[in-house]
Amino acid sequence: MNNPTVKDKASNAADKRRVTLAQLLVYELRVRDAMHKDPVTAQPSDSLRAIQHLMKKHRISGVPITENGRLLGVISIEDIINALDKGYINDPCDKWMTRDPVTLRDHYTLVRAVAEFDRHGFGRFPVLDACEQLTGIITRGDISNALVHHLEARAEQAVAHEAVLVAERQADEKAHRVVLRTPIKSGDFESAGKVSQRMRETLRQRGIDPEARRRAAIVAYEAETNIIIHSIGGELRVVIEPERVVIDAMDQGPGIERLDLAMQEGWSTAGPLARQLGFGAGMGLPNMKKSADHFEVRTELGIGTHLHAEIVLKKAELNPGTTAS
Ligand SMILES: Nc1ncnc2c1ncn2[C@@H]1O[C@H](COP(=O)(O)OP(=O)(O)OP(=O)(O)O)[C@@H](O)[C@H]1O
Ligand SMILES: [Mg+2]
Repeated sequence: MNNPTVKDKASNAADKRRVTLAQLLVYELRVRDAMHKDPVTAQPSDSLRAIQHLMKKHRISGVPITENGRLLGVISIEDIINALDKGYINDPCDKWMTRDPVTLRDHYTLVRAVAEFDRHGFGRFPVLDACEQLTGIITRGDISNALVHHLEARAEQAVAHEAVLVAERQADEKAHRVVLRTPIKSGDFESAGKVSQRMRETLRQRGIDPEARRRAAIVAYEAETNIIIHSIGGELRVVIEPERVVIDAMDQGPGIERLDLAMQEGWSTAGPLARQLGFGAGMGLPNMKKSADHFEVRTELGIGTHLHAEIVLKKAELNPGTTAS
């Protein structure tokens, strides 16, 4: 049960190779990004007692001793304890300070700083700048804080970046043309309305006014059913643009013998099956014409019928008076 499988071993190896963001950050961030700037310092002539007070006041456990910005040594809390113990607390600090302490440079990477903490075991390092001046002090805690701070900042940037990408993608999709092309089979009553449904969904996602959506749906649905019921088969093509929907219904025949009659309300040649299924009221073509902003039918007997319709789209918010579909 506990034997690692081949897959486990492979994923463990991958885990070991995986570099976390925190690991990357310790290479990217510098000591100057994590250190405490303007550290509390004392002068060589200051007494150990004065430094004891400084430590208490600022809640620190080590004070660099400087002269004109130049680091001379460090007094730690242990030095103060020893001085109290042995009775030399009023001595000037330069007599007891650790001279030439190990320092870090402000341009070192944090990974180097961590290595120095591990190597020397000190609680803090004074930090020098390029001019050898004391510029800060750094503890392990400062490194952890800097990492947490930068990880949070990166996470926030990532969230903001993601939001921008989503907004751009949505704007792209909105501006984009969507083309729905579907072959329509004669007699395929089952499929009636499918293209129209897909078109409605896209228009709804784009925030198109419900009334314009409904008109486009009527045209697509009636065109689709006419190919199913009256033709030997064809194709429905719906092109959704930001400003309009263009619907083309083309079939391979037989063509409409009396287009003038076909355009009249109530005129139908639908057979009994179509009527049984609820078609054949003779309202399709008149309704399409009413619903479309532009409508044309070209038909030729024995060749086929091509119906072309355009519906102008409006954004729902531009037309607050309409009711939702
Ligand atoms: N693509 C087509 N091919 C051949 N004839 C057609 C085509 N479309 C319409 N017609 C003819 O035009 C007539 C009227 O069509 P219309 O869509 O107005 O009514 P319908 O399809 O008969 O009934 P409804 O649409 O109300 O269910 C049809 O009965 C049919 O004779
Ligand atoms: Mg019809």
